[in-house]
Amino acid sequence: MKITQAEFVISAVKPHQYPEDALPEIALAGRSNVGKSSLINNLIMRKALARTSSQPGKTQQLNYYRVNDRVYLVDFPGYGYAKVSKTERQAWGVMIETYLKEREPLKMVLLIVDLRHPPSKDDQLMYGWLKHFNIPVTIVTTKADKLPRSKWDKHLKVVKQTLEADPRDKVIMYSSEKGIGREELWQILEEKING
Ligand code: GTP
Ligand code: MG
Repeated sequence: MKITQAEFVISAVKPHQYPEDALPEIALAGRSNVGKSSLINNLIMRKALARTSSQPGKTQQLNYYRVNDRVYLVDFPGYGYAKVSKTERQAWGVMIETYLKEREPLKMVLLIVDLRHPPSKDDQLMYGWLKHFNIPVTIVTTKADKLPRSKWDKHLKVVKQTLEADPRDKVIMYSSEKGIGREELWQILEEKING
């Protein structure tokens, strides 16, 4: 997809802050530091529109990015970061669950996992939630550049097995560093946005 426009719109904490123009939304969920914000930047070909950090736990709200005036990419706060208080974790749960259950423009969630490691318990829970709420999901295994090509297939298999992935769900390999998987992912997104 040719990117003609991309902008940060809002960091939303409460549903009344979510945009009201009803453009389709694609949300990115995943562990803290897994590379969600980097993936957004790579998708929209901007170096640093979405804030990234080598410190986990940076993104605390739902961050909305509007692309080509056709779709919102919604960057979720990462989960599984140990130094987050119980209260914060609960607030996170309420916000995400409400969003997933009630957000009408939501078209698909990209579950971002690290290709190098088996998905965590939290990843399994998130995937379970998405299936439970019948939300279309694509599994994106990122940081592929950190593994030799010869190991990709083996790691993909572990990701699918650990998540007990529905064979109908697409699993794609990605690297925000190298742009691997970018075209393939845009194609999946465009089908969802248009359909
Ligand atoms: P939170 O906002 O804390 O939930 O993190 P995040 O999931 O948004 O992660 P972020 O995009 O900030 O990336 C975390 C770190 O991983 C940064 O240092 C990135 O440069 C690095 N990173 C992300 N994607 C890739 C990738 O595909 N390849 C490599 N080599 N590094 C990556
Ligand atoms: Mg982030």
